[in-house]
Amino acid sequence: MIRPAGAPDLVSLAALYHRVWHETHGSHMPRAERDARDERFFLNRMASLMPNVVVCEDAGTIVGFVAWTGSLLGQLFLDAHARGSGSARSLIEAAESGLRAQGVAEAELHCLVGNERAKRFYERGGWHVSEIMAAAVRGDMGGEQRDFWVMRKRLAPHGL
Ligand SMILES: CC(C)(COP(=O)(O)OP(=O)(O)OC[C@H]1O[C@@H](n2cnc3c(N)ncnc32)[C@H](O)[C@@H]1OP(=O)(O)O)[C@@H](O)C(=O)NCCC(=O)NCCS
Repeated sequence: MIRPAGAPDLVSLAALYHRVWHETHGSHMPRAERDARDERFFLNRMASLMPNVVVCEDAGTIVGFVAWTGSLLGQLFLDAHARGSGSARSLIEAAESGLRAQGVAEAELHCLVGNERAKRFYERGGWHVSEIMAAAVRGDMGGEQRDFWVMRKRLAPHGL
């Protein structure tokens, strides 16, 4: 089931975000960035993302979510057992409708270079890589950078 998130979901959403970020992104990040991203970090981040958050629920348990800020689709995270189920497609379509309803003509997302599964998923849904950007992360010896694919998708027909 796909539905808007509510305040009662914040703790379970933060736990899922924390779990899946460390499972799929942690190994690409310096230790300092991993250590900074504890449960409190994700709870604060989830609270700041509301209300543009949509969840996927299976038998009463949240198994994934999508969130956006302005024209940036910043988060799409599914638990491992929910991947390949089609739920990701339902979530991103819900986000694209939300963005469109908020007047966004072209949406953007940033996908860590190397995350091939996600890139394939987005490309299959009509997103394309427009450029690569280097983003600052917390490094063990001061600032470090990681490369992200900047991907874009037009949500409104040209000229609208
Ligand atoms: C990214 C994500 C939402 C995609 O949803 P999904 O349900 O896994 O999507 P799919 O199963 O359709 O897989 C997408 C594509 O990757 C392919 N794929 C599956 N497993 C793969 C793997 N281990 N490595 C590379 N590609 C893989 C699939 O075949 C599919 O390609 P295809 O459509 O050409 O057949 C989901 O994998 C996820 O939540 N990952 C962890 C968090 C994350 O990386 N989020 C994105 C941050 S930008």
